[in-house]
Amino acid sequence: MTKAAVLCGLGAWLPPRIVPNSELADTLDTSDEWITSRTGVRTRHIADAGMATSDLAVQAGERALKSAGMSNVDAVVLATTTPDHPCPATAPTVSARLGLGTVAAFDVNAVCSGFLYGLMVGAGMIAAGDTSSVLLIGADTYSRILDPADRSTRVIFGDGAGAVVLRAGDPDEPGAIGPIDLGSDGDNNNLIAIAAGGSREPFHDGGDPYFRMRGKEVFRHAVVRMTQSAQTVLRRTEWPGGLPDLLVAHQANVRIVHAVADQLGLPREQCAIHLDRVGNTAAASLPLALADAVTTRRLTAGTRVLLASFGGGLTWGACAVRWPELSLT
Ligand code: ACO
Repeated sequence: MTKAAVLCGLGAWLPPRIVPNSELADTLDTSDEWITSRTGVRTRHIADAGMATSDLAVQAGERALKSAGMSNVDAVVLATTTPDHPCPATAPTVSARLGLGTVAAFDVNAVCSGFLYGLMVGAGMIAAGDTSSVLLIGADTYSRILDPADRSTRVIFGDGAGAVVLRAGDPDEPGAIGPIDLGSDGDNNNLIAIAAGGSREPFHDGGDPYFRMRGKEVFRHAVVRMTQSAQTVLRRTEWPGGLPDLLVAHQANVRIVHAVADQLGLPREQCAIHLDRVGNTAAASLPLALADAVTTRRLTAGTRVLLASFGGGLTWGACAVRWPELSLT
């Protein structure tokens, strides 16, 4: 029988510095009222100077390993768009700092959908048979790539990291990952992008080094794609009533999360909302929202959870999981 990837550990870490909307309004042409009503974000955590994505990832990874009661894994997958350096990948550094030895370690870049892409990669490695456990971390430090003068992005994003441990198990066990649906639309790659710093426009040519997003268009794509992907997964799960107990959707904007719930016919109260306190933490968004839902007891053993994500690429995905018994550290 094909081995399933079973979620058996969860960890989260946020940099200590909390930045409220009012602090952003001191230097940008914005207001707490605008940010709260248009996005739902009230505060976000921002990494101190000198802190890089690997620092956040190590903290979350350590906590996930502890939650799983494991000190070794066969592979480390890091979902991030803000690696410590453009080259090499950050995962080997994280793996070494966690004391995991010389195991396989690599980054996945699917922007805000990175965690779900990483779940598919981790599940695939386990199904292939040679890997029996994977540490998957979603970590991003968007504060480093935002234009300090761009109010449309500064108000949304925050820094953070979340991680899960996957182990080989049975498809019928609580915590078994899947089904998963993933998709992409490269024709719209310009809606979310950093223009300079790659092979198309090297930094030394002097292009725009900042993250840019065409928010209104992204909003529309996000609702349509996350809804479609969620529906695809729900059809495959055959859950009673065809709906989850809890929707944990990418935490970019509360209006997007509620629009997806409305399209699915799911009461809005069944949506996890964490973005009010952390903003959009990109690849960390889903594991951080899961950890928050466990802490607040919205997520307990047996809860049917639907994950949905959307990000640059464009990329999107959804995944079903029946929540296992696990403790956070
Ligand atoms: N404060 C005050 N006014 C603002 C701000 C701000 N921070 N930002 C924009 N505005 C203004 C605009 O200039 C515009 O003014 P105008 O009407 O005079 O031109 C007005 O507010 C409306 O702007 P919109 O861009 O239409 O605002 P919208 O309601 O769409 O909200 C937002 C913008 C929050 C960015 C929204 O579009 C959004 O959430 N988009 C999706 C983000 C997302 O899902 N990202 C996921 C992927 S991210 C990733 O992959 C890394």
